[in-house]
Amino acid sequence: MAYFAELEEDEALKNHIQKQVSQSKWAIMADKTARFGRRKGWYALVRIIKPGIVIETGVDKGLGACLITSALMKNTAEGYPGHYYGTDINPKAGYLLTDNYKNYGEVLYGDSIESLKAFQKPIDIFINDSDHSADYEAEEYETIKDKLSPAAIILGDNSHGNDKLLNFSIKYQRHFLFFKEQPANHWCPGEGIGISFTR
Ligand SMILES: C[S@@+](CC[C@H](N)C(=O)[O-])C[C@H]1O[C@@H](n2cnc3c(N)ncnc32)[C@H](O)[C@@H]1O
Repeated sequence: MAYFAELEEDEALKNHIQKQVSQSKWAIMADKTARFGRRKGWYALVRIIKPGIVIETGVDKGLGACLITSALMKNTAEGYPGHYYGTDINPKAGYLLTDNYKNYGEVLYGDSIESLKAFQKPIDIFINDSDHSADYEAEEYETIKDKLSPAAIILGDNSHGNDKLLNFSIKYQRHFLFFKEQPANHWCPGEGIGISFTR
């Protein structure tokens, strides 16, 4: 809860996103005020675990990228440096990842599976949010399976919609939790975060 509050009170992050959105030629495609949704859970986990390497597949504008690099920035100030890698097939993805946030991460452009195959560092937190077809998601997990550090966690952005991360966790003797997003006073039922971890 303290990390959720820390994020909510991060005026520098909110101002950064608002400024980048308003200056972008795609401004009409984005909310003027940043709404973090379930990415708050990603932020809190990055602050708790203090990972060396975080990968997020699927960057889009870079809202998740900004939250994660903001968490890494704070971890670094506390003596736990870390780096963010996003993957995206869209060469224009990630326009929010600028200024100081860019010092804590980068986007690997191209098909996510290909970028993951070429990735050679141990991954501490892996977030799946690219191509949301169930088979593609499962293939991402199989691709990074041997690149995970011993205590790595995997977060699935589509775990409300399919059982790929649950089944991956069962297959490799990992634990699985589901964090449910519940939008207040809204018709949308919300999505959530699948969390796969070891003990
Ligand atoms: C839901 S958006 C990501 C949102 C982002 N994670 C966030 O929280 O702000 C999905 C992104 O996945 C990208 N994508 C779709 N298929 C992909 C693929 N095969 N490889 C890499 N990226 C892909 C799309 O270009 C899009 O930007």
